[in-house]
Amino acid sequence: MANPFYAHPKLSQLPTPFYVYDLAGLRGRVAKFKSSLPANAHIHFAMKSNNNLEILKALHECGLGVDLVSAGEMRRAHEAGFTPEEMIFSGVGKTADEISAALEMNIHQLNVESLPELERIADLAAQAKKQARVALRMNPDIEVDTHPYIRTGFHENKFGFDFSEIPNAVEILKTHANVLTLQGLTLHIGSQIRDLVAFRQAIRKTFKLWQQLNTQGFTLTSFDVGGGVGIDYLSADLAKDEELIAAYGKMIETEVPSIVNRIDFEPGRILIARFGALITEVQYVKRTPYKNFVIVDAGMNALMRPALYEAHHRILRIGGRTAAKSSDGRTQVFDIVGPICESADVLGYKRVMPSDIKAGDRLAILDVGAYGYVMSSQYNLREPLKEYILNGVTL
Ligand SMILES: Cc1ncc(COP(=O)(O)O)c(C=O)c1O
Repeated sequence: MANPFYAHPKLSQLPTPFYVYDLAGLRGRVAKFKSSLPANAHIHFAMKSNNNLEILKALHECGLGVDLVSAGEMRRAHEAGFTPEEMIFSGVGKTADEISAALEMNIHQLNVESLPELERIADLAAQAKKQARVALRMNPDIEVDTHPYIRTGFHENKFGFDFSEIPNAVEILKTHANVLTLQGLTLHIGSQIRDLVAFRQAIRKTFKLWQQLNTQGFTLTSFDVGGGVGIDYLSADLAKDEELIAAYGKMIETEVPSIVNRIDFEPGRILIARFGALITEVQYVKRTPYKNFVIVDAGMNALMRPALYEAHHRILRIGGRTAAKSSDGRTQVFDIVGPICESADVLGYKRVMPSDIKAGDRLAILDVGAYGYVMSSQYNLREPLKEYILNGVTL
């Protein structure tokens, strides 16, 4: 069997730690996602999940647009070749400068999250003599089964409009109709969601409002269902991801009626998570009377998700043909930890590893293509990580 992308021989000499991406895998995943959706789907990759320039260029070539949340992301998207018409600007805290830049560029849609933001957009559009195309992000008050830090559609979260605020939003939209065009509604109930019931409930609730607004003098054309589809981080089974993608596509087809001209999607994780790995080198194997540790050269500075969300990532030894096992087949349980001076700096608790694991061995931390490199930091003044692309032009 061919080496998996993270064990590609070309990587074996590169200094660790580094991220590597599998562009061919990503392209295949995008094709699957696209083919599961209705013909009026517009996919805007949530570039907060991965903003690597080459990845973005490849996604643009695949025909995707982009969902962005800052001026920096807008510049990067532009650099990657996305046109303003392919951009949606999300986020709860857009600054006046960011809104002005978006209006100047004439981007496709600003997803608005509050009454004061709507007023600010109206003022800035009037000053700039521009028409702002907006969608209202709704908070459908759905409690989804995911980590509380990535749950965004519950009434206690800072995101989106409560339904009771809509009459006020309508008033602002009508007062400023010369500069504001309401083209749709949008929602995003959270990330890493694998139960479609929550998506279904959120869409139903929001779609009712979509219809009501169309009887109140607005002509809404689009419905933006956000992102949020998750993967099973405990499993390597890509076919299961594809089953979920297919079921998600069917759910969308039944829940979003054909009177909607255009359905927008903002996926991040489901497209890219599987196709990134973090390669790290074992520095020490430390056995104490209480616990065994594998200390590696990547820590929470390189991958925040385990420390921040208690996220699980599979970790494998790579190298030779029998790397996943020790020479005598024995295993031992270790915590895989980084070099950072924090007890939260654990990449994996209680991992069964080959008992002959030693300094100099390389490990692959898997499924880190989304919210991996983008959340890395230079904490403890560690060097910024490098990113390499397989099946692309970088390597
Ligand atoms: C508004 C919005 N859209 C899309 C996404 C992408 O979510 P995911 O990567 O789970 O698909 C996010 C993630 O936080 C988001 O906040």
